[in-house]
Amino acid sequence: MNAINVAINGYGTIGKRVADAVDAQEDMEVVGVTKTAPSFGCNLAIRKGFPLYCTSDDPKRISAFEKAGIECQGGLSDLLSIADVVVDCSPGKVGAENLDKYKDAGVKHIFQGGEEHSLTGLSYTSCANHYENLGADGTRVVSCNTTGLSRTLIPLFEACGSLKVECTMIRRAADPGDSKKGPINAIKPVLKIPSHHGSDVMTVKSGIEINSLAVAVPTTIMHVHAIVADLPDNHGLTTESIVELWRETPRVIVMLGEGNRLTTTAEVMEMARDMGRKWGDLHEIFVWEDGVKLVGNRLYYFQAIHQESDVIPENVDCIRALMGTEHDWRSSVANTDAAISRYYSL
Ligand SMILES: NC(=O)c1ccc[n+]([C@@H]2O[C@H](COP(=O)([O-])OP(=O)(O)OC[C@H]3O[C@@H](n4cnc5c(N)ncnc54)[C@H](OP(=O)(O)O)[C@@H]3O)[C@@H](O)[C@H]2O)c1
Repeated sequence: MNAINVAINGYGTIGKRVADAVDAQEDMEVVGVTKTAPSFGCNLAIRKGFPLYCTSDDPKRISAFEKAGIECQGGLSDLLSIADVVVDCSPGKVGAENLDKYKDAGVKHIFQGGEEHSLTGLSYTSCANHYENLGADGTRVVSCNTTGLSRTLIPLFEACGSLKVECTMIRRAADPGDSKKGPINAIKPVLKIPSHHGSDVMTVKSGIEINSLAVAVPTTIMHVHAIVADLPDNHGLTTESIVELWRETPRVIVMLGEGNRLTTTAEVMEMARDMGRKWGDLHEIFVWEDGVKLVGNRLYYFQAIHQESDVIPENVDCIRALMGTEHDWRSSVANTDAAISRYYSL
């Protein structure tokens, strides 16, 4: 079988990680990545051997790369002409401007969580709706927060048949490489109630009833979710069986906080760095086992999300869904994760 030719439009925080994850897979090839203009990130692409293109077809912008001594293969149209699928990793809300270019080029397209669900009318999380995305022309991998909520809530929903959820998203203020956002010395509530995070879960699993509140706090390394879920009567689950359910769920890590001295996001991310993935990434959602408690039918738990990386393997599975090359989400997830592990152990 021929490899799937994957273009990555936008080689920033998410794009550079998606490029590596695609490069790790045997059934895919990175045919090119894009930048708007010369910058330090271009050297990473060139070192990796990824052909570099400009996000624009404007000859002046393309020649700016050559002037800076950076080899540029052409504009976005040139890249799309050799791609089967493009993963749009442009900044939030910017991706929407690229949709017509992908349609005109006849290339399948995957957007990120910074775009609206309405852009494609379809969203994706492997454990929620891989099957619904099979063969689609375009979709959106949901945000880091929605991916995190989906990973732990969907197995619960499938075990219970229904679920009512209230959650508070304690959000990192900015990514570590971002000097423009804040707050740096404040806690900033999102005053739009409910926040968009909860309802976004319903774009991949409509049966879950969920509302969310959000606050931004001065940290850069992770989000934390404080979740309260009401399970239906007579579901037969216990705190222990829920922990067990998550242990068997791909891309969820459940560990004791106190016993392992992993009581804050700082230690969780230090453990992630020990795992040896590039950039110290943690693709899995981290659940504190000692913070899980079922009281009657009401479940309480905390989880931590590495915002820069939990969506990365999802983009790989999503490529297989759109290309229709893997119908079983569990099999895709297992292949994606094994290939990434091999890639970083070389
Ligand atoms: N960062 C996170 O924590 C996170 C988590 C989950 C989802 N997301 C979503 O992922 C998407 C990308 O976010 P990000 O954090 O990776 O952003 P980012 O770090 O700012 O990177 C954006 C990339 O897109 C490029 N770009 C700018 N304008 C473009 C255009 N018109 N067409 C194509 N590419 C363009 C930029 O080029 P230059 O490098 O030349 O400026 C940059 O490489 C957003 O939808 C965001 O909401 C982000």
